Amino acid sequence: MQNKNAIIINFLMHLHPKTVNVQAIKFTRTFGLGGINALLFVILAVTGLLLRFSYVPTPTDAYNSILALQNNSIFGSLLRNIHHWSAMLMVVTAFLHLLRVFYTGSIYYERKKNWYYGLALFAVVLAFNFTGYLLPWDQLSFWAVTIMTNIVEYIPFIGNGFANIIRGGETVNGNTLLNFYNFHTALLPLLFVVFIVIHFWLVRKAKGVTVADNTNESTVKVNPDLISKEIITALVLLVSIILFSIFFDASLLEKANPLISPNPSKAPWYFMGIQELLINLHPIFVSFIIPILIITFFVLIVKSQINKDKIGTWFYSKEGKKTIIISAIFASVLVKSLIFSFEYFINLSELNIPLYISTGIIPFLMYLIPVSAFIFYLKSVRKADKIELILAIVTIIFTSYLVMSFVGIWLRGDAMHLIF
Ligand code: HEM
Ligand code: HEM
Repeated sequence: MQNKNAIIINFLMHLHPKTVNVQAIKFTRTFGLGGINALLFVILAVTGLLLRFSYVPTPTDAYNSILALQNNSIFGSLLRNIHHWSAMLMVVTAFLHLLRVFYTGSIYYERKKNWYYGLALFAVVLAFNFTGYLLPWDQLSFWAVTIMTNIVEYIPFIGNGFANIIRGGETVNGNTLLNFYNFHTALLPLLFVVFIVIHFWLVRKAKGVTVADNTNESTVKVNPDLISKEIITALVLLVSIILFSIFFDASLLEKANPLISPNPSKAPWYFMGIQELLINLHPIFVSFIIPILIITFFVLIVKSQINKDKIGTWFYSKEGKKTIIISAIFASVLVKSLIFSFEYFINLSELNIPLYISTGIIPFLMYLIPVSAFIFYLKSVRKADKIELILAIVTIIFTSYLVMSFVGIWLRGDAMHLIF
């Protein structure tokens, strides 16, 4: 036992320097989120490898292999549940970690590259979840993947070809299942490991996580001060996931039927914001223009010059915090009002003009003009500086997405009409 503990501690020590700034190990500095994501990946890789022993990636047998796993082996359901719930949790914790590094200003200068690797990791986490979603081959998974790959088709010029490559055909079929299985169990694990090694190395290179007050240079020993906290967090996480998985089963509807789509047919919950956007906006904006604008913005923000004393401070400053709160309220009211108006009062598709104008440019401007006016107000009246404006815009983007996801997941029913 002594020996085993020594191996674990030795391994953890290799990931850290010998000493770190005393503030860096406060729980509220990182909420342990980077480590939690790393542990979730380990749990997923281990349970995933075990699932592979019974899973058969063909349309005739995939569903039955999961039923057999659940019914015929003692810990089959538990294994599947742990994999399922850890995967769902990882979308949340990866997003929270993204918010933590962004709102503590930990993405500028020497951490710029790690923001990019982080974004790549986030994309890989979503890809893992999306490809995993299809594998049970039930009605839920089949139609969710059908909806999402149809959205890909709307990307101008390359959309159709690209969607056909992912699906291995014109529709979701056996080739899609095999493609997704190979992405899920071979390509994505490889990508994740490569990115995470670089990610960790870059954290070390930047001399650890950011701290709020650079003048306080007192340090503590990583072993035991930090390592003990890491081990406790890991144990709490592990026990919570196992307990949750004992009591809550991952859903499994009836076997996929390509001829009957459920009503309503919904995308996976983390992509519901995209599906909700598609209800209100022309597909070219959803599949192409908006993603390009957001990705470009996320690539560019880290090139800004920020006052080095502010790095590591939650929400940048008191004023920054206020800016974030009013931006979130503003975005939430704006998005809800637009969704409500488009559902009950305004029918833009009836206008006698090309659809990309009536259901594209016009609703897009109905969002963009108030947002621009709000940013102008922050700049001219509240004298917000560049970093505060970045905080405001990112908050508006995330709040808009979260509100759309909320509406899509909980307030859309029969034929995707609003229900209360
Ligand atoms: C690294 C190695 C991994 C392997 C070998 C693996 C393998 C598998 C296998 C064989 C299945 C089909 C069984 C089933 O659906 O219950 C599956 C499902 C799934 N995987 Fe993974 N997986 C891995 C990592 C991940 C990661 C990192 C995520 C998410 C971040 C993930 C998310 C999912 C999801 C959401 C499902 C569907 C679960 C369900 O509802 O049944 N997997 N995985
Ligand atoms: C999903 C897998 C990920 C894992 C396992 C991971 C792991 C970690 C760990 C262990 C740290 C140091 C401790 C901490 O901040 O908690 C860290 C820092 C960092 N991560 Fe991640 N991360 C992941 C995803 C992301 C994402 C999605 C982003 C942002 C887009 C990101 C950006 C960063 C940045 C900028 C730092 C440096 C923060 C600082 O110096 O204070 N990471 N990551």
